Amino acid sequence: MKIDIVTLFPEVALAPLSDSIIQRARASGLVEVVGHQLRDWSEDKHRRVDDSLCGGGQGMLLKPEPLFAAVEALKTPGTRVILMTPQGKPLKQALAKELAGSEHLLILCGHYEGVDHRVIETLVDDEISIGDYVLTNGAIAAAVLCDAVIRLLPGALGDERSSLEESFSNPNLLEAPAYTRPIEFRGMAVPEVLISGHHGKIAAWKDAQALARTRANRPDLLDFPPSGKEI
Ligand code: ADE
Repeated sequence: MKIDIVTLFPEVALAPLSDSIIQRARASGLVEVVGHQLRDWSEDKHRRVDDSLCGGGQGMLLKPEPLFAAVEALKTPGTRVILMTPQGKPLKQALAKELAGSEHLLILCGHYEGVDHRVIETLVDDEISIGDYVLTNGAIAAAVLCDAVIRLLPGALGDERSSLEESFSNPNLLEAPAYTRPIEFRGMAVPEVLISGHHGKIAAWKDAQALARTRANRPDLLDFPPSGKEI
């Protein structure tokens, strides 16, 4: 897989992808990740890439010319063009899995108030948001997306099972609590069932705990179909 990230802050996007599991996946050739400076496609003598909003309004918008030039330079027939934006569809594990099957991701990072809408209409396959909050910089969101996708590439995680059993592999349930040694720590004991060696009881305990945790932390995941909405 190849991932190109076009941003005003390539070092911000690449820093979280330059250590640990993701760095190993890059070093072993599972994925090639390249950060590109959007200003390199500016034709402005001051390398400007932003301008004020037509029709008025606060803030600045990324201009279309550098983004069009970047996509035209980097896009190939197998490319999926993604724009990181809080206006996008939410990043979920299922979408990360789907993207992990792509040959080439070209990720455009928004900045300021966003990008000229002609970019979205003409160039972008998917607008993706990493959550219902606004970051200063889409490069941070791009790093999150890349991490979620790259760890799913076959061979990226040492133990293939670890990505199968985790939360969101079953999209409606969080993972059960987990414990390690010591069995007793500061008066707190590991639940007895987990040291019973009884696999059936352990599985039943994990199911019940997963449900309780989901109910406490993410009741929305159990609310299916989502209340008030048609499916
Ligand atoms: N840029 C700013 N905030 C963002 C978000 N929540 N998701 C994706 N890109 C963003």
